[in-house]
Amino acid sequence: MLLTPTAALARLPRVPLAFLPTPISPLPNLSRYLGGPELFIKRDDQTGLATGGNKARKLEFLLGHAVEAGADTLITAGSAQSNHARQTAAAAAQQSLRCHLVLRGQPPEFPNGNLLLDHLLGATIHWTDEAAPYSRTIERVEEELFAAGGHPYIIPYGGSSPHGIMGYVTAMIEYAAQAAALGAFDAHVFATSSGGTQAGMVLGAHLAGLGSATRILGISVDRPRDAVAADVASLASQGAALLGADWRIDARDILIDDGYRGDGYAVIGEPEREVIALLARTEGILLDPVYTGRAMAGLIDLIRQGTFASSERVLFWHTGGVPALFAFPGDLEGAF
Ligand SMILES: Cc1ncc(COP(=O)(O)O)c(C=O)c1O
Repeated sequence: MLLTPTAALARLPRVPLAFLPTPISPLPNLSRYLGGPELFIKRDDQTGLATGGNKARKLEFLLGHAVEAGADTLITAGSAQSNHARQTAAAAAQQSLRCHLVLRGQPPEFPNGNLLLDHLLGATIHWTDEAAPYSRTIERVEEELFAAGGHPYIIPYGGSSPHGIMGYVTAMIEYAAQAAALGAFDAHVFATSSGGTQAGMVLGAHLAGLGSATRILGISVDRPRDAVAADVASLASQGAALLGADWRIDARDILIDDGYRGDGYAVIGEPEREVIALLARTEGILLDPVYTGRAMAGLIDLIRQGTFASSERVLFWHTGGVPALFAFPGDLEGAF
């Protein structure tokens, strides 16, 4: 029997890890401060799993796949302050799996932010100076685990694989039901980096019948537009194939603004400082300095440039990352 894509999605192995659905709330004070548009926020910083974030959704499907494959250990990689690494360590602990993290850089004297949580969550940490995707170090760790009789499962950088993006396919279906109750939104804005979140959203919007005019705008935190768009389109198309859907998307149809990358990944500048303080003081909401602070700074700049009519309804999708706030105290001085 041929399954529909949504039936195929429901049959994929999935481990419940996240608190879902995440709420959508209005941002009345910020909207008033900016003079419109009408702003809303979807709180994926409240997904749970060691302080929340977008990776909780991806990890539900990644762990489903890993457990089905008989894995006893997860391996993943990221920066020293990787939110993905922290949530992978939490998911492993919850499922009684071991977790090995390959992190870029040198061990600091005192771990803080996400790195402190990685240690508390019991992950084994391997430091590397290799540039992403750190493949040689990952391969070495994998070989050592195999040699010791283990069954490692490698989760790609950012959790962005065809299985991982299913977390955001289901998120978009969840969102479509909320939008039906709350009224439609004109644009959806969020931080994009490895592209898996956006790929899942784009494919999910298609499966939820939201129509190709739905504006799903990623603010790139690090890479140039074309590189991210190519990855988003490729991941979304591979995800569609995993679900047996006859659908592809072209990179030219992926909406990405790469004009807010400042001085590079995790280099905190004045725009991030301004909006982190602004959101905290107008709405009591915390953004992180690397991803959501940068994405919100982009959104606010687009608003100030008149990109959105004041009557439009714009949804900011908060993707988490808050523990990183505690790793950049010096860079945030000036925000308070
Ligand atoms: C807080 C936060 N927001 C957004 C992103 C970007 O998500 P993606 O890598 O799926 O594009 C990440 C990824 O690391 C993240 O940690």
